[in-house]
Amino acid sequence: MRPLVFAGNWKMNVGPVEAREYLRAFFAAGEIALERSVWFFPPAVALETVAQGIAGHRNVLAGSQDIYWEPKGAFTGAISGPLAKQAGARLTLIGHSERRHVFGETDEQTGKKVTAAFAADLQPVLCVGETLEQREAGNTMAVVTRQLEAALGKRDGKARVTVAYEPVWAIGTGRNATPQDAAEVHRAIREWLKTRAVTAAPFVILYGGSVNLKNAAELLAQHELDGVLVGGASLDARSWAQLVRTTVA
Ligand code: PGA
Repeated sequence: MRPLVFAGNWKMNVGPVEAREYLRAFFAAGEIALERSVWFFPPAVALETVAQGIAGHRNVLAGSQDIYWEPKGAFTGAISGPLAKQAGARLTLIGHSERRHVFGETDEQTGKKVTAAFAADLQPVLCVGETLEQREAGNTMAVVTRQLEAALGKRDGKARVTVAYEPVWAIGTGRNATPQDAAEVHRAIREWLKTRAVTAAPFVILYGGSVNLKNAAELLAQHELDGVLVGGASLDARSWAQLVRTTVA
């Protein structure tokens, strides 16, 4: 069985009370194959509950959905890498398209957050992806490369980074990239990571954008995909338990 990551991004859903019930239902479905990792990205207020609820499950980790780049101080409403770590995070999403497009986060800020994640010993999951307009103009790779360059280009050490390719037009819209389109962008990202040697192998590249129980097998049949980052379809514990057990050719 090839190793695969199933990452669930709960976005602004599932508080601590619901998270306890969610994990109970999720683990009631039994253990997960050891080659598979399950990562949960709950809202910050539920992070500690999730970290406690997954303790003892070797291949299940929790992460924050975002961090601010300063370690502490007068930044009302923000959470830092060290605070997320204290609540039990091992990973953090950086530059999710909703951070970029709803909250106006820039490439430069995304770069600072990647640096802050390393400083706090959190593994960054860097999200990149083009808008529909950029895809139609044939700029997909230019945009993705610019985002990679801004976030990772200045690094000199080698550390583990996961990249999530999430075309903006496929997120929460029910539209997917075809498995072949996704694989093509994944190949280019892998090539960039190899040539720039800014991150340590093995490179883990996830695909995200309207992944669900119906299309996961077909997407994961592409060996360029090391896993999926899932929003909406990770919110129901029982169907998520099924999704992480998807049979992959
Ligand atoms: P979606 O979200 O699966 O609901 O499209 C994916 C994501 O934003 O990470």
